[in-house]
Amino acid sequence: MAERPFRGTLVLPPRVRLYQRKREREPRLIELAPSILAADFAHLADQVRDATAGGGTVVHVDIMDGHFVPNLTMGPPLVRSLRKVTELPLDCHLMIENADQFIPEFCDAGANWISVHQEACVHLDRTLHLIKDHGCRAGVVINPATPVEALSEVLDLADYILVMSVNPGFGAQKFIPGALHKMRRLAEYRANHGLNYRIEVDGGVALDTVGDVVRAGAEILVAGNAVFGHGDPKSNAQKLLKAATEATLQKV
Ligand code: DX5
Ligand code: ZN
Repeated sequence: MAERPFRGTLVLPPRVRLYQRKREREPRLIELAPSILAADFAHLADQVRDATAGGGTVVHVDIMDGHFVPNLTMGPPLVRSLRKVTELPLDCHLMIENADQFIPEFCDAGANWISVHQEACVHLDRTLHLIKDHGCRAGVVINPATPVEALSEVLDLADYILVMSVNPGFGAQKFIPGALHKMRRLAEYRANHGLNYRIEVDGGVALDTVGDVVRAGAEILVAGNAVFGHGDPKSNAQKLLKAATEATLQKV
């Protein structure tokens, strides 16, 4: 099946998101991925629309099974409903066991990107191929306790690497600074080996941490509480992106 195109990035002011790290030939696109885990589910379409108006360009959807992580959230029906109300890529972060069993259904429901945990996938290579074979971008996630080295054999296969900066399962947790060196190493490895995966960060991304993650090399910034936890999602998203942009102007 043909891969679905990335959507929604071209309408954004490119100036905001072009960021060139040392030793990389191509400028990298920085995007905000509001995590709906922190949204008001009774008004989900409105919340997504507001976050999009504030500059969000990817919708991050946290799928939890109560086994791999100690929490339960949503499944394919929610993805199917979201698909009807947004054109943006739906970034499904699977925090589940037996991912292979559910990947086809998530793709069919309208997911564009699907990430799976290295810690939860015994046959990770097969799982990444399965995601791609269903027309989605394939990502691999690592928990705070998992080293970057655990990904060495799949870095050329993954479209993006998601570095968890909290232990997965809940929103509004404190950012774990140990995640920063992983982003730096992933960016360096990519530059040194001519690879092309994107680097995503998830957990505790807020005004006080977004500069550090961008300078460390993160390009896709997942944010739940910082966008939906209080106040207006539109202005919260705008402020986060502004802080990210300002960080790109600083030396790395
Ligand atoms: C946590 C989820 C995150 C969560 C982030 O397991 O993967 O996507 O929504 O929430 P914040 O941004 O509030 O830390
Ligand atoms: Zn997530």
